[in-house]
Parts: sequence; structure tokens; C-alpha cells
Amino acid sequence: MIVCVCNNVSEKKIQSAVAMGASTMADLREQLEVGTCCGKCASCARKVMRDCLNDRAEQASGFQNFVQQLHFQPAPMAA
Ligand code: FES
Repeated sequence: MIVCVCNNVSEKKIQSAVAMGASTMADLREQLEVGTCCGKCASCARKVMRDCLNDRAEQASGFQNFVQQLHFQPAPMAA
């Protein structure tokens, strides 16, 4: 889906930018020029970025829980 018509920025481009470290609208403006023309896309771009950041945070949290479980599993008892 195209988020920014003026600059032809898709949802996937925003997701890629977030994957590469973008975390603010200023980052998106600088990297993709989102919202730098008419500005009508700003709220949609912000939502796409936040959803992506939330997904990444949930994935990181899930991975941390997985690693913690690996570290804190009790050693099997010797028979
Ligand atoms: S639609 Fe993004 S600046 Fe116009």
C-alpha cells in the first residue's frame, strides 16, 4: 500500500526503514521524504511506523523470554 503519494513511499519502504533503525518521523522524513510535500500522509506513516516498532518490540521480548528459559532451565537430576 502506498502511504505517501507525493513521494511514492509504500508501507514496505517504511517497514524496511524501521528495520534499518528509523524510529521517529524525523527519521522517516530524512530517509524517505515521507510527509515533506503536502503532509497528508503523516498520521498514516506514523501509524505504520509505530505498528512496526511495536511488532519488533514484541518479537524482541519473545526472544528474550526464550533465551531466559534456556538459561534458567534446571539441570536434569542425575539418577
Ligand atoms: S502524501 Fe506524503 S507528502 Fe503528500
